[in-house]
Amino acid sequence: MVQPIDAGNYRVYFEDDSFHHLNHFLSAHCSSGSRIFILTDLTVADACLPFLLQQCPMLEESDVIEIHPGEENKVIETCCEIWKILSDEHADRNMLMINLGGGVVCDLGGFAASMYKRGVEFIHVPTTLLSMVDASVGGKTGIDFEGWKNQIGTFADPQGVFVFPPFLDTLQPRQMHSGFAEVIKHAALSGLPFLDQVESLAGYDLKIPDDLIRASIIIKKDIVLSDPMEKGLRKVLNFGHTIGHAIESYSLMHDDNPLLHGEAIAIGMICEGYLSMKMKGLGKDELHRLCDVIHRVFAPYPLSSVTFHELMHLMKGDKKNKGTRINFTLLSAWGNPHFDCHPDEELVVEALHFYVQQTIGKIGLN
Ligand SMILES: NC(=O)c1ccc[n+]([C@@H]2O[C@H](COP(=O)([O-])OP(=O)(O)OC[C@H]3O[C@@H](n4cnc5c(N)ncnc54)[C@H](O)[C@@H]3O)[C@@H](O)[C@H]2O)c1
Ligand SMILES: [Zn+2]
Repeated sequence: MVQPIDAGNYRVYFEDDSFHHLNHFLSAHCSSGSRIFILTDLTVADACLPFLLQQCPMLEESDVIEIHPGEENKVIETCCEIWKILSDEHADRNMLMINLGGGVVCDLGGFAASMYKRGVEFIHVPTTLLSMVDASVGGKTGIDFEGWKNQIGTFADPQGVFVFPPFLDTLQPRQMHSGFAEVIKHAALSGLPFLDQVESLAGYDLKIPDDLIRASIIIKKDIVLSDPMEKGLRKVLNFGHTIGHAIESYSLMHDDNPLLHGEAIAIGMICEGYLSMKMKGLGKDELHRLCDVIHRVFAPYPLSSVTFHELMHLMKGDKKNKGTRINFTLLSAWGNPHFDCHPDEELVVEALHFYVQQTIGKIGLN
């Protein structure tokens, strides 16, 4: 049995087929007679909801709110639909929201719950690797706004997180890879022993053992607990995310088949690994190891230098910045991150070129 993780105000439980922990939580909650709403998306409603309902009889009477899947639905309009349903149903402040899904459902559902009637209780049942190791832990909720990622949001802890790794069996390989980017990031932040384990798994056909999911959650949880409101150390979790978020936003606006969050972050980590080498003395061999593990999992993205101007503009609008200075987390070594780094714009452009150089041969342009 995988041990629960104490995450401060709540616990992260690992479930087996019986969903013992969730059933226990629900029996305490249901005794108060409060309503339960399950927020999920249409894909997860097919893939995971029937099993959850079967294993948790107390959810029989719950209401299910289904949204369309995809990042494009992590917006205020979807929240308004959720708030309308809750209001029409006269859901009161004792209600419970269960967010069953990936990071979109967890972020959106956590946000909607933290706002409804000034905040109602919610729990996460993450169903993607990314939401298990990252989005469901740390108390950040949010939605995208006018093309800006996570522009509007709150800090709000769930009452509990219930991880059932077999939910990953139905996940598309691309989605598994996307989540693995955050596992790689946690390895970069935590150092060599975890990196060795991650490297041994990296490849197309990812099979992630439960203890690696647990280890990855613990790395995030420890960082979050040291700085819950992101005043300082928590910023290290943004490694790969300054350039990654810009590329993700760019891709959402321009590509027919946009990059997934983790796919963009993987590119961001290569670029920010380069910046780390230039500014913080990250060893060349360490940078190569980072690039190698990422290239083994992710197909190259055809980033073109004509997009750099727009990417820089997006980076300047990043909410991590103070004033006009673009804010980065960089590494001086694996496991040794530094936040609030401010490379010159020319160096950031050089880092984008570094990614392009890395991929040219792989995409087959020369
Ligand atoms: N709050 C945080 O701290 C935090 C951290 C990291 C990422 N995020 C956010 O998470 C989001 C990305 O999350 P994601 O990658 O989980 O994306 P997602 O929620 O869009 O899920 C990906 C896709 O997989 C499908 N899916 C989910 N579970 C499935 C399953 N078990 N079987 C089959 N299909 C399944 C979904 O329907 C969806 O189409 C982004 O919006 C990102 O900003 C938040
Ligand atoms: Zn991320």
